[in-house]
Amino acid sequence: MQSINSSILKTTPANRHDTVVILDFGSQVTQLITRRIREIGVYSELLPFNTPVADILKLRPKAIILSGGPASVIEKDSPRAPKEIFDLKIPVLGICYGLQTMCKQLGGKVVASQNKREFGRSFISINDAPSPLFNGIWEKNTKPQVWMSHGDSVVKIPDGFKVIAQNKSCPFAAIADEKRRFYGVQFHPEVVHTPEGKHILENFVLKIAGCRNDWTMASFKDEIIGLIRKQVGNERVICGVSGGVDSTVVAALLHAAIGDKLVCIFVDTGLMRHNEAEEVVGLFRDHFNIPLVHEDASELFLERLKGITEPEQKRKIIGKTFIDVFEGTTAKTGEAAFLAQGTLYPDVIESVSHTGAPSSTIKSHHNVGGLPEKMNFKLVEPLRALFKDEVRALGLHLGIPEKFIKRHPFPGPGLAIRIPGDITPEKLSILRKADAIFIEELHSAKLYDETWQAFAVLLPVRSVGVMGDSRTYDYVLALRAVTSVDGMTADYAALPHEFLGRVAVRIVNEVKGISRIVYDITSKPPGTIEWE
Ligand code: XMP
Repeated sequence: MQSINSSILKTTPANRHDTVVILDFGSQVTQLITRRIREIGVYSELLPFNTPVADILKLRPKAIILSGGPASVIEKDSPRAPKEIFDLKIPVLGICYGLQTMCKQLGGKVVASQNKREFGRSFISINDAPSPLFNGIWEKNTKPQVWMSHGDSVVKIPDGFKVIAQNKSCPFAAIADEKRRFYGVQFHPEVVHTPEGKHILENFVLKIAGCRNDWTMASFKDEIIGLIRKQVGNERVICGVSGGVDSTVVAALLHAAIGDKLVCIFVDTGLMRHNEAEEVVGLFRDHFNIPLVHEDASELFLERLKGITEPEQKRKIIGKTFIDVFEGTTAKTGEAAFLAQGTLYPDVIESVSHTGAPSSTIKSHHNVGGLPEKMNFKLVEPLRALFKDEVRALGLHLGIPEKFIKRHPFPGPGLAIRIPGDITPEKLSILRKADAIFIEELHSAKLYDETWQAFAVLLPVRSVGVMGDSRTYDYVLALRAVTSVDGMTADYAALPHEFLGRVAVRIVNEVKGISRIVYDITSKPPGTIEWE
C-alpha cells in the first residue's frame, strides 16, 4: 500500500509558491486543515508526523501545523513531532493533539483529565492580552464558539508561552509564544463548527508566517503537467476512463502532457449505469478527440463476481480484473509502462494504515487498495494531492464541459457495491432502471446540483406489495442522497417528501421487480456514502 509520502509533488521542491506543511497525527479531520490552507490560496501538504526533518525541509515550508490525533501524549511511545522543527525558526501551530505534543516536547505538562473530557461544541474566553492569532476575529473578553475534542489536558505550559484563551474545563484552550511564533489551540479551527476557524488559520498562515496567497489552480495545472512529463519521460501511459470526473480530468491532463503517448481505455464492466458507455465514448471521441479503446469486459467481470457477497472481496476482484483487462488491451495496442489513476487525496488518506500516519483504514478503495500487489505497470497519479472540488476546478481549466464536471462521483467498482449480496444481470438491470429514474427526477426538480451524490441501492430483501389486484413479492430499493464537500464526511440530503414520494411512485410503477422504496437517512460518519 502506498503511503501519503509518495505524493508526486514531493519529487520537486514546491518552490513556485509558499508551502505550509501539516504533520499528520491521525485525526479524521486532519485533511480539512490542508483544504482550508489551500482555500486561503497557500499550497499545503500533509506529511506523516514522523517524516524526517530533511524531507520536510525539501518542501521549504514557511510554517508547520501539527494536527490532532487519536493517541494520548501520556501513553508511552505516543507520536511526537521531529524535535528539530522547533529549531527551524519558522512558525508552528499545534492543534489539539498537536498542541499537547508541542507542550510536552517543549517542557510543559499534560495529564489525563478524567472529569473534564470535552467533545463537541464549547465556548472559550479570550484573554486580555491580544494575540496576532486572533487579530480582527475575537475581541478580548468575548466568548466565541469552538469545536473541542480532547480527553487529556495541558496543566503547565512551556517557558515563553502565555495563555490567550481558556474555559473552565480547559484552562489552556489557546496558548502562544509570540517571540518564537509558536501557537497552540486545543480546539479544531479546521472544522465548520468553529465558525471563525478559517480566519484563525488565515492569521497564522498569512500574517504570522507571512505566506503569499498566490496558489491557483491555473498555476497548479502547469506544475502537474510538468511533473507528469518528468515522471513518465517517453513511455506510454494507459488510462482507464469511467466517465467520472476524476478519470476524465486525469485523461485530459495526460493528453495535455504527453499527447499520443496516452492510450485511453473505457472498460465496460457490466457494472455501469444506464447509458454510461455511450456517453463516455461520445465525450472522448467527439469533444476531446482523444482516441479511446472500448473494451466490453462485462462477461468477464460478472463471471468472476458470481456468488461473491463480501464487499472487500468484490472490490479486490474488480481491481484485479481491471488490471487483467488493461494488460490484455496493451498486449494489443502496444506496451505501456504506466497506468494512470484518478486517485485523490482523500482516497490516499483513508487508505493509509495505522503504522505510518495513524488514520484508520475504512475501505480499500479500488483506486488505491483494490489494486493487486503485482502488476506490470508503474502508477501515475496526478490528482493524488487534490481534493474533489479542486479536481473540478482543474477540469474546468482543462476545458471539460460543465455537464461532466458536475456529474456526481461514481465509484470504480460501480453498481457492484450498490447491490449488497450477490450480483446478477437481473439485479443490475433492475437497479439501472430505478437509478435512472431517480437521477432524471433530480434533474427535473433542479435538485441534482444540490446533492453531492445520489443513487439507488438494490437490497437483498424482498417485501410484499399489492399492484392492481395482485400480490407482489419483490425487491426493496433504497434511495441514497447526500450533501458533502469532499466525500470525507456527509449529511443525508433532506430531499422534499413530496419529491421522494413522486420518485417512489414512478419507480414502483415503471420498474418491474421492485415493490418498496426506502430513503437512507444515515450521515457519514457513522455510515459511509456507499452501502458497501
Ligand atoms: P464512502 O462510501 O467511503 O465513499 O463514504 C466516499 C466517496 O468515495 C466513493 N467511493 C469510491 N470511489 N473507488 C472509487 O473510485 C471505490 O472503491 C470507492 N468506494 C467509494 C464514493 O462513491 C463516495 O463518493
